Amino acid sequence: MTNLTEPYIDALLGQMTLNEKIGQLNQYNGSDRLDTDLIRQGKAGSLLNADGPLTGQGQSDSGSAEQRNYYQRIALESRLKIPLIFGRDVIHGYRTVFPIPLGQAAAFNPGLTEQAAAVAAKEASADGFKWAFSPMIDIARDPRWGRVAEGSGEDPYLASILAASAVRGMQGDDMAQPDRIVACAKHFVGYGAAEGGRDYEGGEISEPTLRDIYLPPYESAVKAGVGTIMSAFIDLNGTPVTAERRLLTGVLRGEWGFEGFVVSDWASVAELVQHGVAEDRARAAALALHAGVDMDMVSKAYLETLAASVRTGSVPVEEIDEAVRRILRIKQRAGLFDRPFTDPTRYTTEVLTPESRQIARQFARESMVLLKNRNDILPLHGFRRIMVTGNYVHARGEMFGTWSPDGRAENVTPLDQALKEAAPKDTELWFVPETDAAMKAAQRVDAVVIVLGEHPSRSGENANVSSLLLPPGQAELVDAMVNTGKPVVLVVFAGRPLAIMHQVSQVDAVLYAWHPGIEGGPALGDILFGAYSPSGRLPITFPRATGQVPIYYNHKNPGRPINSEQGFHSRYIDLQSSPLFPFGFGLGYTTFRYANLTLSSQALRGKVEVCAEVTNTGGRAGKELVQLYVRDLVGSLTRPVRELKGFQQVEIQPGETRRVSFIINEEMLAFTRGDGTKGIEPGCFHVWIAPDSSSGLRGEFEI
Ligand code: GLC
Repeated sequence: MTNLTEPYIDALLGQMTLNEKIGQLNQYNGSDRLDTDLIRQGKAGSLLNADGPLTGQGQSDSGSAEQRNYYQRIALESRLKIPLIFGRDVIHGYRTVFPIPLGQAAAFNPGLTEQAAAVAAKEASADGFKWAFSPMIDIARDPRWGRVAEGSGEDPYLASILAASAVRGMQGDDMAQPDRIVACAKHFVGYGAAEGGRDYEGGEISEPTLRDIYLPPYESAVKAGVGTIMSAFIDLNGTPVTAERRLLTGVLRGEWGFEGFVVSDWASVAELVQHGVAEDRARAAALALHAGVDMDMVSKAYLETLAASVRTGSVPVEEIDEAVRRILRIKQRAGLFDRPFTDPTRYTTEVLTPESRQIARQFARESMVLLKNRNDILPLHGFRRIMVTGNYVHARGEMFGTWSPDGRAENVTPLDQALKEAAPKDTELWFVPETDAAMKAAQRVDAVVIVLGEHPSRSGENANVSSLLLPPGQAELVDAMVNTGKPVVLVVFAGRPLAIMHQVSQVDAVLYAWHPGIEGGPALGDILFGAYSPSGRLPITFPRATGQVPIYYNHKNPGRPINSEQGFHSRYIDLQSSPLFPFGFGLGYTTFRYANLTLSSQALRGKVEVCAEVTNTGGRAGKELVQLYVRDLVGSLTRPVRELKGFQQVEIQPGETRRVSFIINEEMLAFTRGDGTKGIEPGCFHVWIAPDSSSGLRGEFEI
């Protein structure tokens, strides 16, 4: 592919003036009142959002492709007619809004992730966008951080698989196809380690942890052919990543051979001045360009300072040429030179189709995690009258979650309507959102469903919380409903793990619905009334309290572990040290037994096969996520107590036993040592085939 484009790019580059080159490195915010002359003069390589001057002029739905076409026509009036690339935050769907990425991760279903990404690409490209600022693949270990909603949780193995699925879904085999879009893996790298869970703060990550926990999803995205990468805001170990050549050039390009281009995060080039690594915008621009940031998102530091810096010799023009080359390469691969305009009629036929809604409904079903089901109160059968109360009884747009700018509440079936449609004909539903009225009504119903949790505004960028408790007033509602003595089912909408230990102890059942997207209501009805047996599993550890953070499953073993005989051991004096729910945990409407773990050999020579039998011991079919974990007992560095190395979703009929097997090879056991090399070390390993990260059948093998 590269060969086809380079001569073309060489020829174009050879014609470009310095100002035209710098123009390609500049991305404007298209929502601003844009001076279109800047575009006509070739001073913009890209617009993000671009809702511009045609908004509301009787265009088709949404921002509409006509607006992008309007700006593209102006760009093609420029001397060299280089097309713009239009970017948009298409994080978990466009008009068909899927569950938030953290909820998608709970489905542990790469195929569905890829399908949803393909729908998002089709819809966004039909509206004139050819570049999506997703997938967000930052590992997150701190649920106070608002952006934990946008990623795939705490595990690098799961995040790496889903990163590649999302890239493949968006770009397909040929990102020039009209219904495909250029992906952007973000935010490279370590953004999730921001201190206190607060965006824009710095963070410290050791090299082994950076290499083995935070970088793998990006390497996976690069291997999947991701067209662009976005540099993170974070000051990582004293160097803001936007100025970190060792990572942006040394690792991304030198080690991994990344051929696409890097865009900075919003204004993070100019923010190098605030970070205190650049005296002024000119120095900031020179640092970022040298580090490997090819396009400056909206700060205009490149546009306003690079020409002078070239003239004074502080910026070599070769660095500019290389950045322009990468951007032109992706524009060429995206087909923009051949097909710069969008066919506006696509929008009327390719967006919000019944098929895309069905995918959204299936994803919402598979994303929800059943955390408790005392006395099998779920599915709700045999209750003649059920009251639904809480903040989200009438939820519509609230189910979208964060980063869903193109979702429309009017396209969402209200939650109450969806539940009414899903309920058995002989079940009467009362919808009583207000607490006092609900208390009065409670005496006349047979069961209570509470739908509460976080508004989407508590999720996403710049939405960090200091407490993981339920939002104000909701714990009191649960208390009131429990005090009625009726069976209580709690449904939680959230963009992060919440510290619901008390509520879990009080109620009969807890279903974690995340923010489930446009089909969240029907999917919730499918689960509550039994059309679908919950199969979601936690992609992130649930703490008992905020004070436990950070808490994650793949932690190192302390010298005095929690269960140590030593009186002095890792613990809190005021709280159990174990998580409320471990990574990988989830229940269904049936039960499973794990038995007979066997290994093909006690010694790993190249590979070893691990098998176990999983039996459905319940009364209905169900999907079980069978998980493979390993532990390297002794290493030249301390090693995690468990690492996920495989998973399989298996559908098992009542009474049926399935033999599930995994292959462990040496490559899976390599890790980054103190000297920076990656390798495998001889010794003893534990291996589990398990239903979650805290249980399962254990075996042993040696290298
Ligand atoms: C924001 C976010 C980034 C997003 C970009 C454009 O600040 O950090 O994820 O893609 O700006 O909206």
